[in-house]
Amino acid sequence: MELVRTLSEFHALKRELVLLGHGVHSARPVTGLTPTMGALHSGHRTLIERMSRDCDLSIVSLFVNPRQFGAGEDLSRYPRSLDADLKLCASAGADIVFAPSVEEMYPESYATTIHVAGLAERWCGASRPGHFDGVCTVVAKLFLICQPERAYFGEKDFQQLVVIKRMVADLDLGVEIVPCQIIRELSGLALSSRNTYLSPKEKVVAGRLYQGLMKAETAFASGTRGCEALKAAANEVLSYRQPNVVDEPLIEVEYLAVVDPETLMERSQAENGDRMLVAARLGSTRLIDNIALAGAVEA
Ligand code: PAF
Repeated sequence: MELVRTLSEFHALKRELVLLGHGVHSARPVTGLTPTMGALHSGHRTLIERMSRDCDLSIVSLFVNPRQFGAGEDLSRYPRSLDADLKLCASAGADIVFAPSVEEMYPESYATTIHVAGLAERWCGASRPGHFDGVCTVVAKLFLICQPERAYFGEKDFQQLVVIKRMVADLDLGVEIVPCQIIRELSGLALSSRNTYLSPKEKVVAGRLYQGLMKAETAFASGTRGCEALKAAANEVLSYRQPNVVDEPLIEVEYLAVVDPETLMERSQAENGDRMLVAARLGSTRLIDNIALAGAVEA
């Protein structure tokens, strides 16, 4: 596996690997990209392993993208763990790790932003104005630099996935977006680099996000379709307080909604395949999660 930090190194290496027929199993070699901000965990591992099974050349980008953090957000404390990330990438089958500097991605003269109207303004976009502009801008740049045929994204950031699919279709970027299932801890907590911010007590309570979604999913599977009733089922778990426990961390829900999985518009009556989305704060940590309402339990 090769680590490259500049665009010129990256292009030279990619040309060399393709010319040498590195790992090429087909007449038209397939390049895969898993864009990340580093601080990799087992969720990222499954994306990279899947990419390296599917593709001839597997690229992981590690870049903490300042443009997707708002003022007062966690850019400066965002976890960074390059050595561990490189080990994980190598053992998961990556061929190239592209870890550019901020200056390499956004030179002083940089002036272009991509905005996906509507989709990027709802839900997380409402509470984090400009967040998805930053995400789309960096992902489009990474696509243009790496020229992948396929790109792998986790379903935990469901809105991000939908926004990126729209951008790819609108700009004819020709990249197949491969959504990958959420990987969870035993408590149900979805793996996230931001989980390292949680105290042990907060981590226990954080599992209730998924447990709440599951309660709504169970109600859906047994025939409930009214979204207020589905949200009430989830909220029962989210607002649960253990009797006689002092200092139990509190889940502060930012939004909880059932949405159409393509438009992200809120539903009043749920349909099969809709998503229930949740964003909440536990202390200073913001967490998101979601579940498909399909009447079937996620594996
Ligand atoms: O999901 C993430 O880690 C980031 O939003 C992404 C897609 C790597 C863009 O910086």
